Amino acid sequence: MHYDVLVVGSGLSGMRAALAVQAAGGVSCAVVSMVYPIRSHSVAAQGGINAALNNVEEVENDTWERHAYDTVKGSDFLADQHAVTILTKEAIPRVYEMERWGTPFSRFDSGRIAQRPFGGAGYPRTCYAEDRTGHNLLHTLFQQCIRRSVTFLDERFTLAIAMEEGRFCGIVALNLKTGSIETLSATALILATGGAGRVYAQSTNALINTGSGVAMAYRAGIPVKDMEFVQFHPTTLYGTNILITEGARGEGGYLLNRNGERFMQRYAPTAMELAPRDIVARSMVTEIREGRGIEDAYLHLDLTHLGAQRILERLPGIHEIALHFAGVDITKAPMPVQPGQHYTMGGIDCNEKGETPISGVYACGECACVSVHGANRLGGNSLLETVVFGKIAGEHAASFAGSARRPAASAALAVAKAAGEDALAALAARHGGTRPGRLYDELRRVMTDDVGVYRDGQGLRRAVDRIAVLREEFRGIGLAASGRIFNLELVTALELDGMLELAAVMAAGALRREESRGSHARTDFPARDDVAWLHHTVAAATPDGPAFSAKPVDISIWQPEARHY
Ligand code: FUM
Repeated sequence: MHYDVLVVGSGLSGMRAALAVQAAGGVSCAVVSMVYPIRSHSVAAQGGINAALNNVEEVENDTWERHAYDTVKGSDFLADQHAVTILTKEAIPRVYEMERWGTPFSRFDSGRIAQRPFGGAGYPRTCYAEDRTGHNLLHTLFQQCIRRSVTFLDERFTLAIAMEEGRFCGIVALNLKTGSIETLSATALILATGGAGRVYAQSTNALINTGSGVAMAYRAGIPVKDMEFVQFHPTTLYGTNILITEGARGEGGYLLNRNGERFMQRYAPTAMELAPRDIVARSMVTEIREGRGIEDAYLHLDLTHLGAQRILERLPGIHEIALHFAGVDITKAPMPVQPGQHYTMGGIDCNEKGETPISGVYACGECACVSVHGANRLGGNSLLETVVFGKIAGEHAASFAGSARRPAASAALAVAKAAGEDALAALAARHGGTRPGRLYDELRRVMTDDVGVYRDGQGLRRAVDRIAVLREEFRGIGLAASGRIFNLELVTALELDGMLELAAVMAAGALRREESRGSHARTDFPARDDVAWLHHTVAAATPDGPAFSAKPVDISIWQPEARHY
């Protein structure tokens, strides 16, 4: 099978990219996905998508430039500023496009799309569909794809990118339903495979968010960027780490410690609960460490003063989640929350067009690092990134595929397929070794303990060493069953291989960066250091582990300044 453009990943960025390819005309395209498309993790996004629509009548004068400034400041000045202006300027037409395509946004009485305040934003610019914004956007894009007859190849785990004479020529994938290895030849590839949140034990991410696409690109010779920057969402439901949207604080929710005190007063006296996520998450961990947590483990998010009507109208999903998973009726009582891993700011190194260093390979969405989030992403900017840069990557990939020579792929694909067969056969043949689940649990624990909200040199060194040991142990893993059809332990083993590789980059990158910036908070280097560290971290795979280098940050519009909220 040959397609002009293959998209791997069927979340918002993948589907938006596929629609752009389709719109280009005369270019064939298919979307390859591990899951049925509407099970992609974008479906879990809750609180909203940012755009300076200016719909809140009492608050005038929001602009895409202000949105850009808030994003750059939120990023702790590590975002590339021109790329950020593309994000925030394009936000407005992209949100209206989603509205026209059918997203049932919540509405103000004026009839305009409703907007709520989110952290680190000077204006209420987060557009929402109750607290199920990702769900509604994803279903809208899926409907548009069906309407335009986009081809979906579901339940395929992509194993490798094939190259012929230094050029991309196709992919090799395990068909989970049949157990067979398939080759797909293509002229261009768009990676839209999501983040790597599952390398952490406490994460809001779906089980499929293992960074498999990032690891595959890394192995194929595409560098990754800024992997040490990992976002911890302040409010996940204690004990489950289910996301409790920032929209709950946007609607006016209070964070309280065991003394019933709104402790954000101490850390961000102006923005309070709506400071950026890195600051709120650190404040919460500090409260707990200093003995003001509840049961030494969590804090309270209190919405009761908002009244039942507003809660049920604006946050019905959160009401259900708290009721079913914590037994708390949030119209009557506060819910227990703790920070949890939520987003991977780093990812596949690409430019504003989605181009990676390998000609014909593009990336968009959470797996990519353009970079528009720098060291800390603002809430509501990730859904935005998917539709803005998904469209852009799709357009550029279509144009590339339309003009490039079709690769002579057969030999390289046959070699890649044989390598995939050998690797799967070797895995399936091993019985009695360490089960992948044990190593997976241990990796997630190491990352949570030593590469978490706060880090220091000692813990990071321990993490680097421990991950190296786990990588050795991985060579001796054994599976319970050797079959290939929906053998989820086999898939876990394949994912774990990549997770160990990415975790090594995250921990080593964090150890290298001797400063604190955004989500990267080193207790032994507590200050931001623009002289030594105002640059992106780029990591390339070598047989001896990641080779790090620096890439300049675009600060052509705003000079770095202290962040006060
Ligand atoms: O809190 C939330 O609803 C998450 C939004 C985001 O990560 O952008």
